[in-house]
Amino acid sequence: MFYEPKKGHPFKIDPYKALIFPRPIGWISSVSKNGVANVAPYSYFNAIADEPPQVMFCSNGESSYGGYKDSLTNILSTKEFVVNFATKNTRDAMNISSSNYKPNEDEFVFAKLKKRKSKLVKPPSVNDSPVNLECKLLKTLKLKTNTKKLSTMVIGEVVGIYINNKFIQNGRIDSVSMRYISRMGYSEYSTVSSKFNLKRPE
Ligand SMILES: Cc1cc2nc3c(=O)[nH]c(=O)nc-3n(C[C@H](O)[C@H](O)[C@H](O)COP(=O)(O)O)c2cc1C
Repeated sequence: MFYEPKKGHPFKIDPYKALIFPRPIGWISSVSKNGVANVAPYSYFNAIADEPPQVMFCSNGESSYGGYKDSLTNILSTKEFVVNFATKNTRDAMNISSSNYKPNEDEFVFAKLKKRKSKLVKPPSVNDSPVNLECKLLKTLKLKTNTKKLSTMVIGEVVGIYINNKFIQNGRIDSVSMRYISRMGYSEYSTVSSKFNLKRPE
């Protein structure tokens, strides 16, 4: 089958997100200008460059309290954020942190997540994340939207990287044992449990 998204689709539920998977989840922590911590998952997220390392995530739609979602509001005012990674063990906390909490409510508390002080930025790191990427805002980019909803890409430079030593084996990262979870379509998730090597041609 073939369809043009702008003309609709023949499914009960839009399958678009089920076609692009697995999407890594950037579990973004930030802090408001008044010092309230925030953490929320974003699966429109990825690494986009490595010299220097840069990441992006996209905030789509509005906060239920109007205006930008809290992560974007916070990052626009404080210019800093941390990318944390949800794992099989923290999946319920990640899910709780995606609820519509008020801007002055700290999702770390509701999701019962332990904070760890970040080294170079103000937003706290999620203690149970195997990796934390401390980021400084580089730029934002407004995306095309069909609705009046706000859609913004946030690009940050990774200025500090924390790795739990448990996941370093013989000088390399033991990715599979981290059990990161990633987003598929609908309410489906996946986790990496195997890997294979493929050397690039000379
Ligand atoms: C796994 C997962 C991935 C999500 N990815 C996105 C995303 O990429 N962009 C987005 O705007 N919202 C996404 N959401 C919804 C936000 O997490 C949700 O709107 C949240 O309340 C935003 O929190 P904030 O206002 O504290 O930033 C996702 C939710 C889940 C559970």
